[in-house]
Amino acid sequence: METLTQQQVQEYYGRQLRTQDDLQTNACCTDDIPLEHRQILAQLEPEVLEKYYGCGVAVPPAVEGCTVLDLGSGSGRDAYLLSKLVGEQGHVIGVDMTEEQLAVARRHVQAHTERFGYQQPNVEFRHGYIEDLRTANIPDNSVDVVVSNCVINLSTDKEATYREIFRVLKPGGELHISDVFADRRIPEVLRQDPVLYGECLSGAMYTEDFRRLLHHIGIRDYRLTASRLLTIGNPEIEQKVGNIKFYSLTVRAFKLPHLEDRCEDHGQVATYLGTLPGHPHAFSLDDHHRFETGRPMLVCGNTAAMVGETRYATHFRVIGDQSQHFGLFDCGPSPAVGADDASAAGGCGC
Ligand SMILES: C[S@@+](CC[C@H](N)C(=O)[O-])C[C@H]1O[C@@H](n2cnc3c(N)ncnc32)[C@H](O)[C@@H]1O
Repeated sequence: METLTQQQVQEYYGRQLRTQDDLQTNACCTDDIPLEHRQILAQLEPEVLEKYYGCGVAVPPAVEGCTVLDLGSGSGRDAYLLSKLVGEQGHVIGVDMTEEQLAVARRHVQAHTERFGYQQPNVEFRHGYIEDLRTANIPDNSVDVVVSNCVINLSTDKEATYREIFRVLKPGGELHISDVFADRRIPEVLRQDPVLYGECLSGAMYTEDFRRLLHHIGIRDYRLTASRLLTIGNPEIEQKVGNIKFYSLTVRAFKLPHLEDRCEDHGQVATYLGTLPGHPHAFSLDDHHRFETGRPMLVCGNTAAMVGETRYATHFRVIGDQSQHFGLFDCGPSPAVGADDASAAGGCGC
C-alpha cells in the first residue's frame, strides 16, 4: 500500500510539475555533462528533456551490452541516454511509481528506437516501487548496473530500497547514483513539508547515516565520484532550511561482498589500459583515484577488486592477489609505482 508521502510525491511529479521551470529550487539541476552524453541528449525528444528533474550525472562508462535498471526513471531522459550507450544488444528498464511520468517516457519509445537505428526497442518503462522491485518484476542477480538520478531521497524506506538494489544486481554489478544528501539529520517538521520533500530536499539522508546504512546491509566501501553544494535559489525555502547544507553527490558501489571496511594493503598494483570508451587518457574511479593510462598504481584490496572483479576488469591489468598482507593501506596520496611525484595518484576511499 502506498504511503501518504508516496501519494504526495506522485501528485508533485505527476500533476503539479509540468516542466523544470515549475521547480521552486535549483536542487534538481545538472552540470559537468560529459561531451559524449551531450551529443546523445541533443537527439532526445524535447518533452523528455523538459521534464528532466535529475541532479547529477548518474551514468557510468562501459555499459555497452549491459542490462541497466533506472530507479525513478521519470520522463526517461537517463533511460534514453542509456538506451543509446548500451547499444542494441543491451537492455534498459526504467521503473517509476507515477503513471503520468511513465506515460511521458513510454510515448517516445518508438521515436528513439528509430532515431538510434535499432530494429527493436531496447528500453522499457515499468510501473513499480523502488522499495520493492518485485512490483516491477526484477529478479535477483539480473542487472549489471543500477542507476538513479535524484530519486532515493524521495523514498520513504531507504533501507528497503538499498537492499533491493543489491538483491537485483549481479555479483560484481555496479550501483551508480546521483542524489541529494544533507550535512545533518533533517528535522521532522521539514520532512513533513510536501514542497520541501517534493523538491528533493527534506527527504535527503545525512551523509553519515547513509554510510551507516550501507555498512549495515553489507556494503562496506563505496566511492564518491562527484560532489556539489546545492544553492537553493529561493529565499523562502532558504529561510525554512536554515543552516542545513545540501549536496548533490554521485556515488558508486559494487556488489562485492568481500570488500573490507578499511583499505588494506596487499601490495597490489593496477594499471588502466586506456580502453574505456570516451576515456583514452585516464579513468577516475572516484574523486581521488585517477588512473592515468598505462601508469601502474599501488592500490588497496578494495580498489583492486573494484577494477579487477567487475566489468571494468577488461580495462585494467591488476597484479597481485590478497594472499599477502602488509597492514593498513596508506589512505593519503599513494605514489604511482616508481614515480617521484606523490601528488599524481590518490589513496583509498575509507
Ligand atoms: C526528481 S524526479 C527524477 C526523475 C528522473 N530520474 C530524472 O532524472 O528526471 C523523481 C522521480 O522518482 C519517482 N519516484 C519517487 N519515489 C519513488 C518510489 N518510491 N518508487 C518509484 N518511483 C519513485 C517519481 O515518480 C519521479 O518520477
